[in-house]
Amino acid sequence: MKANVTRLSREQAKELLVRLDSAVSGARGKPARESVVKLLNSSVPSYSWVGIYMVEGKDLVLDAWSGPAVTEHTRIPIGQGVCGFAAKAGKTEIVSDVGKDPRYLQCFLSTKSEIVVPILSQGSVVGEIDIDGDQLDAFSSLDREFLEAVARKVSPLWA
Ligand code: SME
Repeated sequence: MKANVTRLSREQAKELLVRLDSAVSGARGKPARESVVKLLNSSVPSYSWVGIYMVEGKDLVLDAWSGPAVTEHTRIPIGQGVCGFAAKAGKTEIVSDVGKDPRYLQCFLSTKSEIVVPILSQGSVVGEIDIDGDQLDAFSSLDREFLEAVARKVSPLWA
């Protein structure tokens, strides 16, 4: 675990929301989602791995990701894992210590905490942003606020 990795600041969150629009620049669908995960992973040191899953029937399917390694969890049944729980509940989940959460499905040995933010369209969950952190308690209410704003920006570009 890398100690003292810089967490998101309010100033950076504001700046990133502006940069997100130009990073996506007219793209839609998968190319837009690829740009979003790349921007988040490369800009915020505490965001060790960033993925976007899409709802496909009763499953979440990994669509775009950015980070040091691919995950084996490319398809997660809704209701399973932290990802599946957040999709079912339609609410953001923050896990400050994945080692203490029985729902957690492990992807990377380095992961210590996780945030999952649903992406909604017309009141239904169409996907989610999943971020792993290599430090304990990497995500605060600021990350929640920021990523929920990102999810609202991503939703109209979905199809
Ligand atoms: N940890 C997740 C699985 C996805 S990986 O983090 C990329 C979960 O518990 O649902």
